[in-house]
Amino acid sequence: MPEVYDPLTDPAPAHDLRAVLRIRAFRRLWIAFGLSSLGDWIGLLALTAMAKAFAGDDYQAANFAIGGVLFLRVLPALVMGPVAGWVADRLDRRWTMILGDLIRAAFFVTIPIVGTLTWLLVATVLIEIVSLVWGPAKDASVPNLIPRHRLEAANQLSLITTYGSALPAAALFTAITLVTRWAGDFSIDLAVYLNAATFVVSGLAIVSVAEIGRTPGHEHEEHPTLWRTMVEGWSYVTGTPVVRGLVVGISGAFAAGAVVIGLGRTYVEDLDAGDPGYGLLFGAVFGGLALGMGFAPRLFSGLSRRRLFAAGLVGSGIGLAGLALIQQLEIATMIAVVLGFCAGASWVSGYTLLGLEVPDNVRGRTFAFVQSAVRTVLAVTLAVAPFVAGAIGRNTVNLPGDRSVTYNGASMTMLIAAVLASVIGLVAWRQMDDRPGVPFWRDLRRSFGKTPGVYPTTGLFIALEGGEGAGKSTQAALLVKWLEEQGQQVLLTREPGATDLGKTLRQIVLDPATGDISHRAEALLYAADKAEHVDSVIWPALKTGAVVITDRYVDSALAYQGSGRDLDLTDVERVNRWATDDLRPNLTILLDLPPKSGLGRFAERDRIEAQSADFHERVRAAFLELAAAEPQHYLVLDATLDREQLAAKIQERLLPILPKVKP
Ligand code: TMP
Repeated sequence: MPEVYDPLTDPAPAHDLRAVLRIRAFRRLWIAFGLSSLGDWIGLLALTAMAKAFAGDDYQAANFAIGGVLFLRVLPALVMGPVAGWVADRLDRRWTMILGDLIRAAFFVTIPIVGTLTWLLVATVLIEIVSLVWGPAKDASVPNLIPRHRLEAANQLSLITTYGSALPAAALFTAITLVTRWAGDFSIDLAVYLNAATFVVSGLAIVSVAEIGRTPGHEHEEHPTLWRTMVEGWSYVTGTPVVRGLVVGISGAFAAGAVVIGLGRTYVEDLDAGDPGYGLLFGAVFGGLALGMGFAPRLFSGLSRRRLFAAGLVGSGIGLAGLALIQQLEIATMIAVVLGFCAGASWVSGYTLLGLEVPDNVRGRTFAFVQSAVRTVLAVTLAVAPFVAGAIGRNTVNLPGDRSVTYNGASMTMLIAAVLASVIGLVAWRQMDDRPGVPFWRDLRRSFGKTPGVYPTTGLFIALEGGEGAGKSTQAALLVKWLEEQGQQVLLTREPGATDLGKTLRQIVLDPATGDISHRAEALLYAADKAEHVDSVIWPALKTGAVVITDRYVDSALAYQGSGRDLDLTDVERVNRWATDDLRPNLTILLDLPPKSGLGRFAERDRIEAQSADFHERVRAAFLELAAAEPQHYLVLDATLDREQLAAKIQERLLPILPKVKP
């Protein structure tokens, strides 16, 4: 029998884009929406060209027609956004997408056949309405097709594809219109037909993705009314700080982007750079966007996603301010790349956060909400920005001493937008920061140069971590029992002290008689225990396919020696990664408990337990910080819950990632 590909045991790092594409269901969906996006861009170019042709030679009418197409693309989202999400959450997602593609293809075909401006505009609205349902159905399905740790890479691919397909679409459109110039208006019709064909192929590709199903949970629910769904969706978004922060932030990023699009022309004219300058600036923003989407997640893999999101926003704001203030094309181009990079980083991490934090049954609605918020902001900004810029106009201020400063409306408006984007970034930060008290710069510095880690692909490696008396041993025992009932081969082990050498080391580090030793010596003793443990116990068991549970692992060293003691965390981390050959647990379960409650459970204290209350507070904070930076590899639990509740949560999280039991 051929090996069945299992994405959960794929050894490739989480950020490997090819590993996501090895997942069959996602690959097909990706091909489908890649084609849809390509068609969408060609359609936009063709329809604006067609609208202009219908309007004839009148300059004003032509502008009006083009503006009408752009505006009508955005309009349905304002009215229909919440309804679309409601529909997407209730229908079978696969059929929604298949039919959505076919319907859009049919509408596109009718446009050149009917051949009037009115029908073109009406069809644009109808197509957009279908797209409004299609998009959330797709976005909401993706998290169900791939393992959680690959979600970010999948989003990177989706976004790069959606925006990146604008370039080949522009090239295709130009090629078609150039090659078929002899055919007159028919050459634009051809582009529209090509676009319809991409939708048909996309629909057919989705037919084969059986894994996309109906939204789970609906069979058992009574069907809420549309109104109630909208109210619930709205109160979900406004009542959940993370989601609220995300929506505000994503809208802010788009507003900043729209200002650049809306004012780019006049801005470049003010620089006397003409059409090539305009192209350069746009290429720079889009190039930066692609770079940010493609590389930021890996570059900042050690940074919390929430922080990356907000920092990206503030970065975009600062970039925009730079564009507004520096009136020199070469420098402006470089700034535009950075601006795009920051916006791209934000956009990818925002999307990933939505996928991770929003439960499946409201995910469609939330994505729809975000998309309509984004479109509203785009529409309003595109309409308002040129007006503000025009109202400000070109001004020269005379300064004392025969000097003068000239500023013009486009740059001033950009400056206003820059300030707004930065403020929104800061607000988003405050709403959703998951590492309060940890300075950003320290985070950022540490996030560079992190090693990716080695995650076992045979067996499963679980670490239990937490402060003193958090109940690790109780949970370990319950977990072993449950895993054995599941038919798993289990090894429970611990640090320090699981090997012969380890027992001696444990005696030394924990015996109060050892007294005060050098903190570096302490760190090395613990590290030596780990090296022996990994080589002689953990790896051999994992290789046989066992589930290995270790009571404490590297995080204990990072928390106790790296943060509790007066040592440099980076040094402690380096030593421990080296000692363990960078082997990391597939999942770390952190039992979080205020030190006061935990330490209360002991009458006699060992050398570590006897440390100050401050020491133990630092240890607790360090554990939480480690978990927040890599949520996909952690399960953080409130250890004050009773043991059955904790056990149930642990089982629920582990069930989907357990190794397959050999019959
Ligand atoms: P325990 O196994 O009974 O929890 O005790 C281990 C003690 O050693 C505990 O106080 C935490 C401490 N410790 C470290 O300081 N660094 C380490 O790397 C490990 C594994 C444990």
